[in-house]
Amino acid sequence: MKPYVYIAHPIPEHVESYIAEHCDYNIWNDSNEKIPKERLKEELKNADGAMLTGQPVDEELLAATENLKAVSTVSVGYDRYDIDALKKYNVYGTHTPYVLDDTVADLIFGLILSGGRRIAELHEYVKAGEWGVEPDSAFYGYDIHHSTLGIIGMGRIGEKIVQRARFGFEMDIVYHNRSRKPELEETFDAVRLELNELLSRADFVVVMVPLTDETKQLIGEEELRLMKSSAVLINGARGPVVDENALVAALQEKSIFSASLDVFEQEPLPKDHPLLDLPNVTLTPHIGSATQKTDEEMMMRAAVNMVEGASGQTPQDVIKE
Ligand code: DGY
Repeated sequence: MKPYVYIAHPIPEHVESYIAEHCDYNIWNDSNEKIPKERLKEELKNADGAMLTGQPVDEELLAATENLKAVSTVSVGYDRYDIDALKKYNVYGTHTPYVLDDTVADLIFGLILSGGRRIAELHEYVKAGEWGVEPDSAFYGYDIHHSTLGIIGMGRIGEKIVQRARFGFEMDIVYHNRSRKPELEETFDAVRLELNELLSRADFVVVMVPLTDETKQLIGEEELRLMKSSAVLINGARGPVVDENALVAALQEKSIFSASLDVFEQEPLPKDHPLLDLPNVTLTPHIGSATQKTDEEMMMRAAVNMVEGASGQTPQDVIKE
């Protein structure tokens, strides 16, 4: 008998065909609305595996299952998964590392460029028909090339950003990370710093740490105050890692130059959010990995993880904690 799996969001056809070869399955096919929790609990009652992205997997949900062996998120971040509860219920939690690293690093570079050279702000200006004079100092931004890039959280994506920064833009690299990265230091002349020192030295501060209890509000009022008035903050990690109220205040007071954000405390960003009224921001709707190719690869990898787990094997991308 094939294992039974539940997929809680739409998936591409080729991924569905792969799942169909190995499992009996059902899919929540509504892309506009998330499956309600009570319905999800019913659907998972007899499931051996599930694909569940962007929704909490917690004790309450797991307690409602009888056969579940693996839950698989189509993302590298897994902050919606309660890892202790997964361990307690003996369920593998899996994610999709590697396949998105370059794609996310590309977006982060776009955010760096936009933040330094005010691309989003000046784009709005031109579109509003306000471009009436020759470019002058009112349009100045800051150079990216030969400036200093500071990365907070040096994982695989951080390394891809550093490659682009060092070899493409000849930037100096500083980083803050729990562990030292001797190879990275050698290859890219990177220097590991304490957080406060990095904040006061970097021209572009990129936040790439996973969201955990320790990293929640890691960048708050005090940390923002340490940054240069010409500095740009880029958040490509998770919204709650930055204190958004403190960030809005810093941007209003121009105590930092600008911020480029792909992630927010609340997503989608509320329509009356004060960030929307600020000129010195570049805002994207959590699209770090959103290219067709990468999305398909992530979906497939997540499906393989789910099928492996549901069939009683150890999936290739078990979340390591
Ligand atoms: C992830 O996969 O966790 C990223 O947030 C994608 O943008």
